[in-house]
Formats: sequence, C-alpha cells, structure tokens
Amino acid sequence: MCVVYINITHITHMNITEALNWRYATKVFDTSKELAQAHIDTILEAGRLAPTSYGLQPFRIIQVADKELRAQMKGISYGQGQVTDAGTLFVVAIRTDINDAYIDEYIARIAETREISIEALEGYADMMKNTVGARSQEDKNAWSAKQSYIALGTMIAAASELQIDTCPMEGFDTKELDTLLGLQEMKLQSVAYLAVGYRSQDDTTAQYKKVRLAQDDFVIVK
Ligand SMILES: Cc1cc2nc3c(=O)[nH]c(=O)nc-3n(C[C@H](O)[C@H](O)[C@H](O)COP(=O)(O)O)c2cc1C
Repeated sequence: MCVVYINITHITHMNITEALNWRYATKVFDTSKELAQAHIDTILEAGRLAPTSYGLQPFRIIQVADKELRAQMKGISYGQGQVTDAGTLFVVAIRTDINDAYIDEYIARIAETREISIEALEGYADMMKNTVGARSQEDKNAWSAKQSYIALGTMIAAASELQIDTCPMEGFDTKELDTLLGLQEMKLQSVAYLAVGYRSQDDTTAQYKKVRLAQDDFVIVK
C-alpha cells in the first residue's frame, strides 16, 4: 500500500514547549479566517484518543456550527465573543448514564475490537460496575467531568501544535445551554466549551506575559 502524506500545515514546526508558550486563551478571534476541515478533524481526534479511566470515555464533544445557535449561546455565556467569533465551537458534555448498560456496551466494543469473548471480560465488567457504576449520580458526574478535561487539554495541546488558537471556557450557564441544545434528552450535561480558530491581530491579550509558578514551586520533589 502506498501512503501519501500531505503537508497541510501552513507553518514552520514548533516544538511542544514553544507551542504551549505560543498558545494563550484567545479572547478575540479573527472572523475572516476559516479552519481547514483536516485541522478540525485532527483536534477532534486528539480528544477521541485521550486517555480515560478504564477507557470508558464518559463524555461527548458537540460541534456547534450553526451561527444562529451560537448567537443564542453567546447570550448565556456572559456575552463572550469567542462563542460566535471562533472558527468553530466545541461543547464538552459528560454522559449522565454511566450505568451497567453503558459498561456492557463498552465491553461489547472491546470484545469486537480485540476479537475476544464477552465472557473473558466479565471480571473487568464487574469491576467497572462495582466501582464507577455503583457511585452516586453526583460522584459519577464529577468523575466524568475529570475524564473530559483530560480530553479538553489534549485537544488544546494538539491545536497549539498546529498553531491553531483555542479558548477553553467554563463561563456559561450550563443548565440553560443543556436546554438550548436539548442535551438532557441525549443523556448529556455540558461542562465546558472549546472555542477554536485563529487569533485576531486586535487581541492585545496575546501579548500578555504568561503568569505561571516557577517550576521549583510547582513541582514538589520527595
Ligand atoms: C476550565 C477553564 C475554563 C475557562 N473559562 C474561561 C472563560 O469562560 N472565558 C475566558 O476568556 N477564558 C477562560 N479560561 C482561560 C483561562 O482564564 C486561562 O487559561 C488562564 O488565565 C491562563 O492563561 P493562558 O491560557 O492564556 O496561558 C478558562 C480556562 C480553563 C482551563
């Protein structure tokens, strides 16, 4: 089989530290610049490939393309311009049905993918049902949100590597958003946005120096 790699990046390569220094939580996006579908796909793939506890992926990503919907979302997101102006907007939403049926579906997927029997996975299924599945709904939601933020971070890092700007956002009314997008019926509950696009030249916050703890204060060596 012949594999052809097409270089779709428009930039010179940055190493991961340079890319993470280059990135910032973008406040003003350039509305005239569109994202390539291949780049959107790469960022989504980074989220899909992120690790999760047991591999359960207890969250989904909703891509909101509809401009009218995004205008409505801005109204419940403290008027933050990124909601309408970013090239695309992802909503990270946890699954609210992490129960035995959800776990069994996952087990069936493992069995099919790895060509092993469901019976061979019974112990694993029971362990998940007795740990994650047995928690209170509130605990499950908190656990699912933790998993989803790893994917959020992975997507941000992947975007920065492509020199694509992002803004992770929690500044919105999750209940109102869930109603607007009909998430409850889909057994979903929103936790965060990821606005993705290209920074506007007018975004002066791009010039702000990063404020971070010194590595010696951040890392505790024992
Ligand atoms: C979970 C989360 C929620 C955030 N919510 C918002 C938000 O609603 N609006 C916003 O402009 N920035 C938001 N931020 C961006 C942070 O303020 C920003 O990442 C932080 O100040 C560090 O700056 P830097 O990312 O530019 O390095 C959020 C970041 C995270 C990780």
